Amino acid sequence: MLVNSKDLYLDAINNKYAIGAFNFVNMEVLQGILESAVELNSPVIIQCSTSAIKYMGNDFLKGMVENSVKNLKIPVIWNLDHGKTFEDCVNAINLGFTNVMIDASSLPYDENVELTRKVVEYAHKHNVTVEAELGVLAGVEDDVKSDVHLYTDPKQAVDFIKKTGCDSLAIAIGTSHGIYKFKGEAKLRIDILEELSKMLPNYPFVLHGASSIPKKYVDLANKYGASIQNAKGVPEEMLKIACEKNVCKVNVDSDLRIGFTAGIREYLSNNLSDVDMRNYLNNGKKYVKELVKFKIENVFNSKNKA
Ligand code: G3H
Ligand code: 13P
Ligand code: ZN
Repeated sequence: MLVNSKDLYLDAINNKYAIGAFNFVNMEVLQGILESAVELNSPVIIQCSTSAIKYMGNDFLKGMVENSVKNLKIPVIWNLDHGKTFEDCVNAINLGFTNVMIDASSLPYDENVELTRKVVEYAHKHNVTVEAELGVLAGVEDDVKSDVHLYTDPKQAVDFIKKTGCDSLAIAIGTSHGIYKFKGEAKLRIDILEELSKMLPNYPFVLHGASSIPKKYVDLANKYGASIQNAKGVPEEMLKIACEKNVCKVNVDSDLRIGFTAGIREYLSNNLSDVDMRNYLNNGKKYVKELVKFKIENVFNSKNKA
């Protein structure tokens, strides 16, 4: 069933787990995510960026999500990932999303407060919960490029949540989007997360840019013709620590992209005369499922929490 984030995040804090938030842009990846969560009896978050919505089209997407989730027993949050404007959020709410992210983190602080507050006011009237963001992730976040991390300031976070009423907050503690997250050693500022949790007890935080870029799938993609060099993700041990603290939602897109692509490459390389799309797409889906299941069981600890 589709739900908003309200009760789920509180349960995640109390029971020291996090919920995986997986991006999808097509049917096979959506199926892979949902089937894995159902098989492990885990709550799950499915999410679409604004460009993913555009790619699938409003009506097609709405039908696909609502019909595939309506008979499931596990709770599913349908989240807008990185909404940039009030209109992005309204469009998502009209489509039936149950949580929206307004990402105004690249705007000056007061404008971030104002836009987030406006989205919260509208969303809450429609029983939709809101994620906002404070701080800037290094690398490319949306169209904003930053070489340095602008870590979330805990004191500012307290003020921001008070002023906006947002239901969860994406924090910058050293993660970044994409497949090249760290040039040298991987580092997360767990001390900032601890400070945030101390100042905002029982408040849910979100980690973006949390793919681990597992070597197995990079190697598989490269074996079958890809050229992905020096990719580096967030070590699973670090994510586990964050999930036991107040991080309730962990965003994963890049890992599924690598797994899906590797599976398609593998199948096509080994079956040169097969042109049935179902066969190669299914092989991509197989690795999406494997990745989602591994994370639910071994990193997020959300198995049997549905
Ligand atoms: O953080 C953004 C997500 O990885 C989605 O990216 O706009 O390419 O769909 P996208
Ligand atoms: P990754 O690029 O690490 O998968 O992060 C995805 C994300 O944060 C989507 O909002
Ligand atoms: Zn993100």
